[in-house]
Amino acid sequence: MISKPSQCSGCLGQKWDEGDGFTQTEGTGRLGVHIVGEAAGKNEAVDGLPFRPYAQAGSILTQCIKRAEAGLDRSDFLIHNIVRCRPPNDLLAGQWFESQVIDRCAIHRNKVFKDHPPKVILALGATAFKTLTNYSGEEKETLSMMRGYPLRVKLLGRSVWVVPSFHPAYIARGKRSLIPVLIHDIRRAIDVARKGWTITKKDYVLYPSIGDAKTFLQQVIASPDAMLSFDLENPEMHDDSED
Ligand code: URA
Repeated sequence: MISKPSQCSGCLGQKWDEGDGFTQTEGTGRLGVHIVGEAAGKNEAVDGLPFRPYAQAGSILTQCIKRAEAGLDRSDFLIHNIVRCRPPNDLLAGQWFESQVIDRCAIHRNKVFKDHPPKVILALGATAFKTLTNYSGEEKETLSMMRGYPLRVKLLGRSVWVVPSFHPAYIARGKRSLIPVLIHDIRRAIDVARKGWTITKKDYVLYPSIGDAKTFLQQVIASPDAMLSFDLENPEMHDDSED
């Protein structure tokens, strides 16, 4: 385990893991994309590194990175956490110490952002999303509504894109169907870092023919990582504004 550095003194987290369990950043960040999670877990605290590839959340993240683009590897990103050590019982969100440790850990976060300025930050889970965007709106459903959409934020005086996505630990808890969503959001983060972000016009087919449906089916079959979303309507919803 790595001992907590002197900057941690006075933080409520300083005594967790008897003063040990600090995690470093991982990766080169060569793509200009940071991947930021919530806090270290047990394996991360032992190894001193985030999202261990043999641990539950880390293995999903590692798989998704590999599937996002041929030849891509964890080392192409800069991976770290909002809180660099491991909270008691692995609980940070909603705990009485949450805001204090998140604020105190800014000293480590900001040094990384200064030394390796990101073009894009992929924020995994609500804690990273809220901390990095200062989002203070309605909590419920926020992440599922906003994930995948780049938000422009000011970070240490620079404009940076934040792309929110689901946390791999959430995906691991019975939500594996969201794996293609995380892959999609990783691709989007890389794309935004390479080309910037402008909203492209969608090409909706409102009255598909059987031929359109068959072509669509072939496209879906040929793309196992494609994200497919759907919306069921029923007669009661007829004339709803949502229609
Ligand atoms: N969960 C996180 O948010 N970060 C890690 O590094 C591991 C699990």
